[in-house]
Amino acid sequence: MNIVLLGPPGAGKGTQGERLAEECGIPKYATGDMLREAVRADTRLGHEAAAYMKKGELVPDEVVFGLIREALATPAAQNGFILDGFPRNVSQAKGLAGLLEAQGTALNAVVYFNVPEEELVRRLSRRRVCAQCGKDFNVEADAPGSDCVCNECGGEIKTRDDDRPETVRMRLKVYREQTAPLLDWYEANDVPVRKLDALGSVDDVYGRLKSLVDCR
Ligand code: AP5
Repeated sequence: MNIVLLGPPGAGKGTQGERLAEECGIPKYATGDMLREAVRADTRLGHEAAAYMKKGELVPDEVVFGLIREALATPAAQNGFILDGFPRNVSQAKGLAGLLEAQGTALNAVVYFNVPEEELVRRLSRRRVCAQCGKDFNVEADAPGSDCVCNECGGEIKTRDDDRPETVRMRLKVYREQTAPLLDWYEANDVPVRKLDALGSVDDVYGRLKSLVDCR
């Protein structure tokens, strides 16, 4: 199955997508993770992307599209994939549709993660990440410890640069203005959007996600 996970920042796309990818045995490509990896590796692409990401703005389409084109051309992606955080606007959605058409395939499912804004802000304010390996921590669930050191790699645990309140406000604005219109765009282009109630525990949300997407 070729699946797109669509939703605002903090909706749980990454958390649920990882679990779904593992259970379905298909890769998940998250443009945010790819970009953060490039920033950590200090590449030219990382330098270019960092300026946009710090402000909560979208990185230029051609940069993220290049990453996705490369990922979808790999053998791993030929039996299905999950996209998390891409496409993020109508132009990226059109690019993806063209790319898949050229490969003789198409999207099977678009899942929209529905979460009220106050819960998004609450989740993002509690997230911490390892500056070295990128592992996600939650101040409530994981209680990373007073030394603030990652239990996997020993890296420093900190607030993600773009999870600061002013940047979260910008990311939500960008979502409303540029990403939310994709819901109508998909419907108008005969790709039905499956609406997921993404409130509640991670397990409960995953149960609902599985009832919307059957990857067998
Ligand atoms: P990206 O990394 O894609 O950020 P995002 O969409 O804002 O995604 P998040 O990671 O914040 O949220 P999520 O929905 O994945 O939730 P998660 O599972 O992590 O993008 C970052 C930046 O990169 C963008 O601003 C842009 O600059 C650039 N970029 C990326 N893609 C781009 C593109 N296509 N085009 C242009 N620019 C692009 O969960 C969030 C937190 O909530 C975690 O702490 C998690 O543990 C917790 N949580 C998850 N589920 C639950 C639950 N059910 N209950 C309680 N807590 C939960």
